[in-house]
Amino acid sequence: MTASRLTALLFIVSTLLGSSHAARSAGCGKSLPAQQPAGQTYQTAFTQSKGTSPSRTYRIHIPSNYDENTAVPLIFSFHGHAQTSKCQEELSQFSNEAFNPNAFAVYPQGIDGTDGESSWQGAPYAKSGVNDTGYVQDMINHFNDIYCIETTQIYAAGKSNGGGFCGTLACDSSLSKQIAAFAPVSGAFYVPGSSSDACAPTTIALTCNAGRSPIPIIEFHGSADTTVPYGGGGSHDQCLPTIPHWVREWSTRDGYGLTNKTTNLYNNQVQKYEYASGSAFGTVTHYLTQGLGHAWPSTSPNSDNSAGTYFNATPLIMQFFGSHTL
Ligand SMILES: *[C@@H]1O[C@H](CO)[C@@H](O)[C@H](O)[C@H]1NC(C)=O
Ligand SMILES: *[C@@H]1O[C@H](CO)[C@@H](O)[C@H](O)[C@H]1NC(C)=O
Repeated sequence: MTASRLTALLFIVSTLLGSSHAARSAGCGKSLPAQQPAGQTYQTAFTQSKGTSPSRTYRIHIPSNYDENTAVPLIFSFHGHAQTSKCQEELSQFSNEAFNPNAFAVYPQGIDGTDGESSWQGAPYAKSGVNDTGYVQDMINHFNDIYCIETTQIYAAGKSNGGGFCGTLACDSSLSKQIAAFAPVSGAFYVPGSSSDACAPTTIALTCNAGRSPIPIIEFHGSADTTVPYGGGGSHDQCLPTIPHWVREWSTRDGYGLTNKTTNLYNNQVQKYEYASGSAFGTVTHYLTQGLGHAWPSTSPNSDNSAGTYFNATPLIMQFFGSHTL
């Protein structure tokens, strides 16, 4: 074979390999809905197909450079307990095009729980029968239908109860196969059916029904979090695992074992723990920030933290999402 033929063959093989993972949604080629200009956030009501609470809302930010013929990623960002989709947009900054120039950012709104405050499925205060995983499934189907989405690059991030819900989605047999990577921040990983009295946070069994393996996870937590303590424990009559236990269980479930590479950052004020080796290195990653409370890490003050901290979590999440596709 001549060199030019070999080059041509390699090109075809690499093109096939590259495109075998890409998947454009049915919305490619369709114009944006008239009331939804690119570069803006749009809030809308949404009717869930099944479930006890079919009437929902979400906010969606459409990238300024949106082109109906170019498939782009989509990022869900779930708010915390008693919060709103609008607060979550401001907190997580996925509509900030300095952080996220290309992907759709979606901020769904939770249904009021047993305490009258907005919440997500899996938390002790969520109303039983609310099918939030079904809501996410319906939104994915809807977005794929009307926008040009790269369906191998749908992601989920969330704060606190919204971070816990990322864990619920990662352990759902179906959604875990549609969402490429998960980024809980200060996640409240309640163990359904557990009790606060007999809570053993370092060893409590964490059941999971993920539909694929490995699942990429990046978690951020503050050592001074008093709402979802790093060391876990009883909360709202249920048991929260320690964050290291939750992270290590993911590494084990993903097949990487317990060993991590620890990197000290910012004068030892931030620890980065990365699991797995070789090309999978860092597929499970955890950032611990010393002295930080129940906050989305940000160098500038935000609604969680009036002082700001050492780094911005959002660009790290974007980088992590960018290196993991289905
Ligand atoms: C939740 O909704 C999904 C999608 O509509 C459906 O497949 C699932 O059966 C529902 N779960 C429950 C418990 O109703
Ligand atoms: C990471 O590894 C170090 C060294 O073995 C260990 O002390 C630490 O507990 C581990 N951290 C986590 C979060 O697993």
